[in-house]
Amino acid sequence: MNSWFYWERSIRRLMRIRDLRIVAKLAEMHVDLQPGTPLAGLTSLGIGGKTDLLRIKKHESLPDLLNLLDENRVVYKFLGGGSNLLVGDGELPWVVLQLVRPEPDVVLDGNLAHVDAAADLGRMITLCAKNDLGGMEGLIGVPGTVGGALRMNAGAYGMQIGSYVREVRLYRAAGRKLEILRDDQISFEYRHTSFAPDDMMLAVILELPSKPFKEILQGIRICNEKRRSSQPLGQKSAGCIFKNPPGASAGRMIDELGLKGLSVGDARVSDRHANFFVNAGRASAKDMLALIADVRERVGKTYGVSLENEVVVWNA
Ligand code: EPU
Repeated sequence: MNSWFYWERSIRRLMRIRDLRIVAKLAEMHVDLQPGTPLAGLTSLGIGGKTDLLRIKKHESLPDLLNLLDENRVVYKFLGGGSNLLVGDGELPWVVLQLVRPEPDVVLDGNLAHVDAAADLGRMITLCAKNDLGGMEGLIGVPGTVGGALRMNAGAYGMQIGSYVREVRLYRAAGRKLEILRDDQISFEYRHTSFAPDDMMLAVILELPSKPFKEILQGIRICNEKRRSSQPLGQKSAGCIFKNPPGASAGRMIDELGLKGLSVGDARVSDRHANFFVNAGRASAKDMLALIADVRERVGKTYGVSLENEVVVWNA
């Protein structure tokens, strides 16, 4: 490698938005720049270093915004609710884009719910329930935004959000275009979708079955009870760390190996559910990654299975 390569790499690693011309352009695009934001405060694990946060008030600004960032060689990532995310420590070499939640963020029209990607998943399910629209009871305790749930095809207790999607509005960074995809143009699988990593979810139309509020509430209560009794809800976590391998349960395997309570620093395998790793104090990303690697190795040795991350890792 030549010295140009190292020079360029060091510039990219220190890339932050300090150029006042860029700052002025961001304001014109209705983007709110919050320099040096600690991402630990924006993730359910409470882990993550600092970077510039760009909060986008208008979807329409996205093409110009991303052109501006690319022209200035600023690397970016899209953040939803931060509930399934492990962010690296220290000064981060990329900026983070996040949509500002509009008001209203859910509009109902018969059995259709028009939902902004920045809407809170639980609040959306509750609002639909109050209007006698059900189907999503299983997801009630899952933290995060509707956009994040869509991207991962969040699921629980036998249902997944993808089953109710009729149309998704997204920004496709690859083609630099705002697009609308119908449900038959998207594949929703177990904790996986056909969206590209740099697609940004903007809004979705869900088609939900009619159900009396009382019945939906009953379903919500049952799921809440199951979740409370089996998951460490009061602690900082990113939900399940690993996907379940076909026909098996990651949590059960980790439990069978006696790994509940195993720790690296303050990163700990939950005592309540072995596929939840909690931040029991001031865990770093380094601690959490070491714990993930250790558990993966032990499960691999005993069961011959290589567990795949469910948690999304943004390591510097
Ligand atoms: N189990 C143990 N020990 C544990 C945890 C679980 O023996 O520490 C056993 C349970 O007793 C049960 C089996 O393993 O017999 C499965 O456990 P559970 O019902 O908790 O489901 P899971 O497969 O571990 C999945 C999802 C959860 C979702 C629940 C409920 C994945 C990776 N996890 O967990 O989703 O809430 O089912 O539907 O698919 C998430 O995606 O982040 C998540 C938490």
